[in-house]
Amino acid sequence: MLNQIDRPVLDPRVLNYIREVQRPFDGALRDLEVWCIENRIPIIPHETAVYLNFMLELLRPKSILEVGTAVGFSTISFALASGASVIETIERNPEDAELARANFAKFGLDIDLLEGDAFDILPTLDKTYDFIFLDSAKSKYIDFLPELLRVLAPGGFIAVDDIFQGGSVFDAREDVHRSQRTIHRKLNEFLKVTNDLNSTIVPLGDGLLLIKAD
Ligand SMILES: C[S@@+](CC[C@H](N)C(=O)[O-])C[C@H]1O[C@@H](n2cnc3c(N)ncnc32)[C@H](O)[C@@H]1O
Repeated sequence: MLNQIDRPVLDPRVLNYIREVQRPFDGALRDLEVWCIENRIPIIPHETAVYLNFMLELLRPKSILEVGTAVGFSTISFALASGASVIETIERNPEDAELARANFAKFGLDIDLLEGDAFDILPTLDKTYDFIFLDSAKSKYIDFLPELLRVLAPGGFIAVDDIFQGGSVFDAREDVHRSQRTIHRKLNEFLKVTNDLNSTIVPLGDGLLLIKAD
């Protein structure tokens, strides 16, 4: 007989439930989520948004930093769930940034969009944040980590989306297509370094890593 431990978590029925059925958002946030999916904007999966919002409702961070805004879906959901008074989000694509600003205005939210490459912006930040969400180009996660740890407030936490590359991060290097080798190497470095921190992984979406400040 199979034990629970032998059963893969992401049985398609489980995935369908947590993604399609579990606690749909209301009103304008739901409309934005649907619009993003229909327009193939790469937003966090529904189950990840529900999970993070639950955490933010519990922990009530006062300040939030996000790296990778796209059109602002995750930023808005975090703002509504947390009630944080300081929310800053970094986006390098000018068209996405413009759409995000329009969405923040539509929701009446005071969110500071820092337009440009996180590589240049992160070293200029001079305050600390209770919650940091990293959701930008995956190959840069390892490069951004020291700066994120520098601006993480005591007692705060970092969430990092999409750490598994659909599981291919665990493939042998020689089995990885040449074009994917840099991201494969850098994500493996990132997993190795973060495994030595106070961290845990939640198997939602393509893997959600949580790091707690010491
Ligand atoms: C996955 S999308 C973000 C989705 C958003 N967090 C959500 O769930 O609604 C990633 C975004 O990060 C931006 N991005 C990627 N690398 C970046 C960098 N180095 N600096 C700033 N933005 C970056 C991309 O332009 C893209 O809009």
